[in-house]
Amino acid sequence: MNTVHTIKELRSIVAQQRKKGQRIVFVPTMGNLHEGHIALVTEGLSHGDFVITSIFVNPLQFGANEDLDAYPRTLEQDQQKLADAGNHLVFAPSANEIYPQGMESQSKVIVPELTELHCGASRPGHFTGVSTVVTMLFNMIQPDVAIFGEKDYQQLAVIRKMVKDLFMPIEIIGLPTARDTDGLAKSSRNGYLSPEERAIAPRLYEIINLTAEKIRQGQRDFTQLTREAESLLKEHHFKPDYFNIADSSTLELADKTTQSITILAAAFLGGTRLIDNLTI
Ligand code: PAJ
Repeated sequence: MNTVHTIKELRSIVAQQRKKGQRIVFVPTMGNLHEGHIALVTEGLSHGDFVITSIFVNPLQFGANEDLDAYPRTLEQDQQKLADAGNHLVFAPSANEIYPQGMESQSKVIVPELTELHCGASRPGHFTGVSTVVTMLFNMIQPDVAIFGEKDYQQLAVIRKMVKDLFMPIEIIGLPTARDTDGLAKSSRNGYLSPEERAIAPRLYEIINLTAEKIRQGQRDFTQLTREAESLLKEHHFKPDYFNIADSSTLELADKTTQSITILAAAFLGGTRLIDNLTI
C-alpha cells in the first residue's frame, strides 16, 4: 500500500488506475483510525476496485478554541491498519498542500440551513470547513463512490445535500456507527477521556436509547423528553451541548406529525465533546 503526500502524486496514481478502468472509492478521515473507520474501508472494497483513504486533520473545520493542536496524529499506526484492511492508497497531505494561500483566501462551499442546526449551531463555521475540504478532496480524486459514517449523522446529511445540490457525480454511502461493547460510539476523541470519564461516557447513548424507547411507546411531548434527557445527562456529570429530537431527513426539530425521528445529542465530559445519534 502506497502513501502519498502531494496532490500531484495523488492525481498521477488516480489517472493510472482510471486508465485501467478501475472504479475509485474514497474514504475521507482525519486519522487516528479505529474500527469505525476501518469498517468504511472494508465496505469500500465491495464498491469498487481501488480504495483511497485520506488522512488530513482539516484546520478549516476547527473553531479557534477547539482541539486542532491536541487532535491525535498517528500516521504510522493508521498506515498499518489500512494496509491490513486491504486499502490501496493513503493520501496524507500537509495543511500547506491543501491551503497554500492560507485559509482566509480559500474559496468555500456553503451548505445553508441544515448546517445551522445541532452541531452547526454550537460550532459556527464547522460544516463549511467540512463541505469545503470534502469538495476539494472530491475534486482531487474524482471518486465514483465515497463512504461516510452515520456516527456524524448531520455531517452525512450535509454531504448528501451538497452532492445533490451541486450535481457532483459521486455515490454517497453511509454506514452504521461502530461501538465499543458498552455502547460508546468509537471516536478518536474518546482517547481524551480519563478512566473515570470513560466509565460514564456510555450513559450518553443509554440516555438517547431511553428517550427513543419513550417515543416508541407513544410519548410525543418532545420538549419534555428533551428536558428529562438533559437533566439525566447532568446527573451523570455531562454538560449537555444539545439534545434534539429531529426529523431524520430534514433534521428540523420534530413535531407530532414527524414520521421518521432521529435523536441527535452532543455533551461535554470534562473538556471532551462527545456526539451520538439514533434513528428510531
Ligand atoms: P473523522 O472524524 O476522522 O471521521 C471519518 C469518517 O469516519 C466519517 O465519515 C465518520 O462519520 C466516520 N466515523 C467516525 N467514527 C465512526 C464510528 N464509530 N462508526 C462509523 N463511522 C465512524 O469526519 C471526519 O473525520 C471529517 O469531518 C472529514 C469528513 C474527514 C472531513 O475533514
